[in-house]
Amino acid sequence: MDDLLRAANAARANAHAPYSRFAVGAAVRTASGAIFAGANVECASYPEGWCAETSALAAMVASGAREVVEVLVVAEHDEPVTPCGGCRQRLAEFARAGTPVHAADPTCVLRSFTLGELLPAAFGLKP
Ligand code: THU
Repeated sequence: MDDLLRAANAARANAHAPYSRFAVGAAVRTASGAIFAGANVECASYPEGWCAETSALAAMVASGAREVVEVLVVAEHDEPVTPCGGCRQRLAEFARAGTPVHAADPTCVLRSFTLGELLPAAFGLKP
């Protein structure tokens, strides 16, 4: 998963987070092995910003890919940073209950989950 971490770190370096100053990067691996990354994008009207995971999924969808097989989120925080509730549901649109979701700091993965663990009893999550 070093390739996912590298891609997520590169995207995180371009995060637009002037309000929270909390830069996040995310990367998804598709079924064909391609990697798409994204960063959080904040907005002066705070609720209009979006997360790194959503940016990565948008890049993937724009390429035509639809199947996520692995996810990584990178940030610098006391605790491993996992996707927010809305991003868990968006990931569920393209991944499965067993899809690994890694929470990393810039140097390494700190903790790994499955999407099913992060979004139990989910609406529309494929087994
Ligand atoms: N954020 C992400 O991009 N992904 C996460 O998994 C957690 C939170 C962003 C949203 C906002 O721009 C900033 O981090 C602070 O919440």
